[in-house]
Order: sequence, then structure tokens, then C-alpha cells
Amino acid sequence: MADQSELVAQINKLKTQRNAIILAHNYQLPEIQDMADFLGDSLGLSRQAAATDAEVIIFCGVHFMAESAKLLAPDKTVLMPDVAAGCPMADMITAQQLRDFKAAHPGAPVVAYVNTTAAVKAESDICCTSSNAVAEVCSLPEEPILFVPDVNLGEWTQEQVPEKKIVLYPGHCAPHLNIRPEIIQRLKQEHPDAAVIVHPECVKEVRDMADVVTSTGGMVRFARETDVAEIIVGTEKGMAYRLQKENPDKTFYPIEQALCPNMKKTTLPKVLNALKNMTGEINIPPDVVDKARQSVERMIELG
Ligand code: 13P
Ligand code: SF4
Repeated sequence: MADQSELVAQINKLKTQRNAIILAHNYQLPEIQDMADFLGDSLGLSRQAAATDAEVIIFCGVHFMAESAKLLAPDKTVLMPDVAAGCPMADMITAQQLRDFKAAHPGAPVVAYVNTTAAVKAESDICCTSSNAVAEVCSLPEEPILFVPDVNLGEWTQEQVPEKKIVLYPGHCAPHLNIRPEIIQRLKQEHPDAAVIVHPECVKEVRDMADVVTSTGGMVRFARETDVAEIIVGTEKGMAYRLQKENPDKTFYPIEQALCPNMKKTTLPKVLNALKNMTGEINIPPDVVDKARQSVERMIELG
């Protein structure tokens, strides 16, 4: 089997031949993070997809992220090295379930976390990520506002804008629910000078123990700017690799229990295979593509 540097060399050669760009989420395996052209959070990756001149986007992340890239770059070929890399939270609400939710709250607009299928985005008014959920909710004058599917991001958003009436849907992220308050408590005892940063997908009890609640992109900025030398990283464990690499003078403590198996499905041999054979192409069902794009574009336009 080819070693990693040989695989990366082959990937880079094919990437040039195909005029491709490799986008990777912050939770990807270290070797994927190291060879990506752009590493980022959901919002950053969407923006990158919308702006690229490349003809092919190799998307190293989970399915809803690659779908967002395709919605924003419809003329590009978007390939996933492993199309089975899904997000179980995104599968917690179907288009029919959202229609039923809307029927129970007539006239209420819907903010959909990007962690949803294109079919659900098509039933929504605007999308959001964890970096802009508050701004997206505030952009809607109507009330109440339906927020799907993550109950924890929705609850955290509600806490930031208590004047808005938000109706939550009971979706969740299992890897983030594994970040139990006892784990944070123990790490705080072991590292009393450490700052605690957590993702808004964590439960309230964990969020309330944190110094900062933010998206993975927000964590990158916080780690760069803070004077604190030790940081407990309350999100998927892959995040700590990037933070440690970019801030070698600081120490980061990952939560070992917070593992997203889908984020680890993308490997170097699968990236090479996608580039070689142009496999794993993302196509959005034609009946939902236009409406789903409107929801994502509205989010991007809002800034
Ligand atoms: P970010 O948008 O913060 O990168 O989060 C994406 C995600 O899937 C969190 O579990
Ligand atoms: Fe989905 Fe959670 Fe994995 Fe993010 S960490 S992709 S929300 S399952």
C-alpha cells in the first residue's frame, strides 16, 4: 500500500490535471486536514465553494455540507470521497416531518440549520450555521420562528435573543451529547487554568460551564487570539488537531468521547479514488434544487 506522502503526491498531481480544489471540515482526519486547500467550518466551506474558480470540488466532510457546496456552485462537479459519510442529525427531520411541524404553526417562518437535507432546506425560509444562527433568526420579523433540527443550537440561539419567540424541534448530535458535564468538570479539575470552549450543539449544562460557546471557526479565532495557554475543546475531537497545529505554544485538551464516525470516513485513498475515477458525484433532486438554493443563498447574502 502506498505511504501517505506518496498518496498526497498523487492527489496533488491529479488535482492540477482536473482543476480541482479540496475543501475539508475541521473534524476531518489529520492527514486530510494537512493536504486540504481550505479547512473550515460549515459556513466557511460554503463560502469557499461559492467563490472558487476550480471546476471540481472534492468535499471532505459530511453529505449535507457537500450538498450545500453543490447548491452554491451548481456548475461545478462536487465529489465526495465517501458518499456514505452522512450526518445523523440531518436525518432526524424529513421534508414531511417539517411540513407537519409547519402545519402545527401556520404562518411561522423556518430557520433550518445547514445540517439538513436539500429537501428540508427547500421547505425552509432561510438556513443558518452555528456561526450565524442569531443573525438569521433576527433577520425574520415574523414570530414565532420554527428552528430545525438541533434543539441545543436552537435553545442557545433563544438564550441570545430572549425577545424572539423560537419553537424548537427535538433533533440532536450524538457526538456532542457525549460531552457530559462530569467530563468537563474532571478536565477543569485537572487543568484549573484552562479556558473551556464548547460548540452550541452541546447540552445547556455543558454550555453553562464554558467560557466561550462558538462554532468551529469561532474556536480557531479564539485559540489564535487568547492569552490563555491551555484550552479544553468541547466539540468533536478532530478539532483539537488543527488548534494544536496552529498554536504550538498552547495546549489543547480534546474530549475523547466526542467522536463523529462519519467525519472519519474520508481517507487519502478514497480522495485519490474520487479524483481518479470522478466518483461520488453530488446531485440535488431537481424538484427541490431551486427552493433549497434560495434558503442557502439567503443565508450567504446576509453575511
Ligand atoms: P461548524 O459549522 O461549527 O463547523 O459545525 C458543523 C458541525 O457539524 C458541528 O457538529
Ligand atoms: Fe452531524 Fe454531529 Fe457529526 Fe456534526 S458532529 S456532522 S452534527 S453527527
